[in-house]
Amino acid sequence: MAVHWTREERYRRLDSVDPEEYDELTKAVANAPWRQKYHVQPLAGLLNDPNGFSWYNGQYHLFYQWFPLGPAHGLKYWYHTVSDNLVTFENKGIALSPDTPYDSHGVYSGSALQAGEDLMLFYTGNTRDEKWLRTPYQCMAKLDRQGVFTKWPRPVITGVPDGFTQELRDPKLWKEDGMYYCVIGAQQTDQTGAALLYKSEDLHDWHFIGEVRTELGAFGYMWECPDLFSLQGTDFLVFSPLGLKPEGLSRNNLFHAGYISGEFDLETGIFHHGPFTELDNGFDFYAPQTMEAPDGTRILIAWMAVPQLPYPTDKDGWANCMTLPRVLTVEEGRLKQRLPASWNKPAEQAATMELTAAGQPELLPFGGDCYELQTDVQDVTADEVHIDLRVRGLEYTRITYDRNAQQLIFDRSRSGEPVNASEGHARITVLSRPLQQLRILVDVSSVEIFINDGDAVMTSRIFPGEDSTGIRVQAEGGTAKLSFRHWTLDGIAFKNERIL
Ligand code: FRU
Repeated sequence: MAVHWTREERYRRLDSVDPEEYDELTKAVANAPWRQKYHVQPLAGLLNDPNGFSWYNGQYHLFYQWFPLGPAHGLKYWYHTVSDNLVTFENKGIALSPDTPYDSHGVYSGSALQAGEDLMLFYTGNTRDEKWLRTPYQCMAKLDRQGVFTKWPRPVITGVPDGFTQELRDPKLWKEDGMYYCVIGAQQTDQTGAALLYKSEDLHDWHFIGEVRTELGAFGYMWECPDLFSLQGTDFLVFSPLGLKPEGLSRNNLFHAGYISGEFDLETGIFHHGPFTELDNGFDFYAPQTMEAPDGTRILIAWMAVPQLPYPTDKDGWANCMTLPRVLTVEEGRLKQRLPASWNKPAEQAATMELTAAGQPELLPFGGDCYELQTDVQDVTADEVHIDLRVRGLEYTRITYDRNAQQLIFDRSRSGEPVNASEGHARITVLSRPLQQLRILVDVSSVEIFINDGDAVMTSRIFPGEDSTGIRVQAEGGTAKLSFRHWTLDGIAFKNERIL
């Protein structure tokens, strides 16, 4: 159920709220149902895009868009978390507040890049006038080794180039051949999406180069959160275009996030590429951002939600979480997405089971609401194999392998409290080869499924009862040999300390 927030309520600053009252809110949220155990989530209020994902001073830094007061897209802050290993994250507090004339209506999304001793942060300062017309500024701040954040007094990019609207935001920076570059999400005056390129020698003085010249034609009405990088000789533009329509089995969410890959020429802005491909085939995935780890690996993290949709936690005063981080690689021309190696756990610590699934549903001897389940699938003669998670009575979340269609189907129609019923009940991944392996990460209100060693990923929120903890398997029209390894993940809790 949508909770309505007036504009006045949405643009109220956190420091205008009585600290005790806010403490009450965070305490109530901490005890609310469906709080995650190991995913990054807000103390209260609404979390959206990952920002400033980076490595600095011996740690991973992950910031996120945050409206502290409730489950609404209001006045945004950057909230700061850190991690040593991409498994356990910990709260550090507010990094950037909307407290200057250049970000009075929100410290919007952006990125981070180390320069010298400091971590430089780039974000869009969102402003509105009395008529509620938007003017964006691209702003800079830094985090130093003492942990102090300092904003530059003036934006580094003001105004928008000719031919573009005020919808210009989400700068993503990188350094190449001694030069700094950034790509910014944009909209052309004909209401089509674009990504703009800027360049700078010193991070202060920026020059507009032009737009990324793709072969997509008119493709949505605005591009958010672009990210441009090269991976093993292939160039990628990751972005979140607004306004795409469903296309067969894909693009069935309200908003989408994906990539084009191929060859990009920074001199001319020309990108030769293949089709736009979604990065995730589940229900809840948007605004991904990548970073380069110290060992050169490319790691992606995203917001586990879709913009503008209500979620069942809204009534408890909070909304949304991050996905788990994923390592990207290119193998035989295909993008692979896997959990970082720090997620690997000793096989001896797993509870294991092998069985031949047949007509009768069978409950596995383990389960829970916070675990990893790995499954190997062999000798499938069945038409369909079901793996049901979070089972209790008539409630369950169903993963189905349809052997004939070579599809994996994620169905949350019986998962508990319905989510965005207008979005349909199932999402489908068309597999590039028969199903062999699943790596499933269950948290209190989410499921992430890594299919066939990272060929595809399906990420979704679910809102089951707390006693819905069973795992059940069944084959229809034949049999399938399945082996399971199960690890309880209660031990890796996200350190959700109440730090502002
Ligand atoms: C994407 C987005 C960004 C913007 C931010 C505001 O979800 O709309 O374009 O910077 O969220 O919170």
